[in-house]
Amino acid sequence: AGLSVVALAAGKKYFGSATDNPELTDTAYVAELSNTKDFNQITPGNSMKWDATEPSRGTFTFSGGDAVVALAKKNGQLVRGHNCVWHNQLPSWVTSGNFDNATLTSIVQTHCSTVVGHYKGQICKYSPPHSWDVINEPFNDDGTWRSDVFYNTMGSSYVAVALRAARAADPAAKLYINDYNIEGTGAKSTAMVNLVKSLKASGVPIDGIGVQAHLIVGQVPSTLQANLEQFTALGVEVAITELDIRMTLPETAALRQQQKQDYQSVIAACKAVAGCVGVTIWDYTDKYSWVPGTFSGQGAACPWDANLVKKPAYDGIVAGW
Ligand code: XIL
Repeated sequence: AGLSVVALAAGKKYFGSATDNPELTDTAYVAELSNTKDFNQITPGNSMKWDATEPSRGTFTFSGGDAVVALAKKNGQLVRGHNCVWHNQLPSWVTSGNFDNATLTSIVQTHCSTVVGHYKGQICKYSPPHSWDVINEPFNDDGTWRSDVFYNTMGSSYVAVALRAARAADPAAKLYINDYNIEGTGAKSTAMVNLVKSLKASGVPIDGIGVQAHLIVGQVPSTLQANLEQFTALGVEVAITELDIRMTLPETAALRQQQKQDYQSVIAACKAVAGCVGVTIWDYTDKYSWVPGTFSGQGAACPWDANLVKKPAYDGIVAGW
């Protein structure tokens, strides 16, 4: 039967999958998600986001996130919290509230401390969650700050406000800034380096950089490993947080073989970098991938097909570890 993914990662790094609450009624899907030979970590794909957790000001709902955490605990899997502050999936009371700096600062503090505090670990190694994407997608691709309600109201101070609130709420959680198109070196990765440097210089808590890795078949950046190394040289850990590798449909045997190589390259880069703590795929099956709904004409990005059958990409993951 071969060695399991988790055994190959040898206990040094985790390998996990995102999931989403509607999928948890699919018993065949949940059985594989709960297979701890393949996955020892889970990320909730939607249910810890702002629109889900604080749909109206000061009213918090945790049922969706709690269900994912309960599954992970039952399975003995780590959880990554995702996410506290992001420009997407915000309730309209945040985006349309026209709050001033002081008020939005207080709103961000309350949101981060309540959500992170709710999931504060208490018991064991697998206490939920063990790391948090506190800040998600702060930059434009050219490395400038994204113009969203947080930046436009608070300037870049929102990052420190959120990180400090998260640290106070759960001192044991690893606090991350997570973004896409920071897989290879370039302007956006340089912006992340400069942000982490300035946070550290100011004594703001920051433990990790999350590299989303929503990639395209045949286009894994050649500078991936060097870039992970430049991040860990800052004194933070890195994680591949949302890996999928999409293709223009239809899926062909040749594209599947290239995809296998690409998954292997990404895993091998994390394996080679001491400070890369693990890899999460953004759901494991094409049945529930976000890709076709977001990138027109593209899909087949996951290592399991829509019938939950392993594709060559799975063997690439095994080979990469
Ligand atoms: C996606 C979810 O997978 C979808 O179900 C949802 O409709 C949109 O968000 N970057 C992120 C994730 O940080 O939260 C996004 O997840 C994918 C892109």
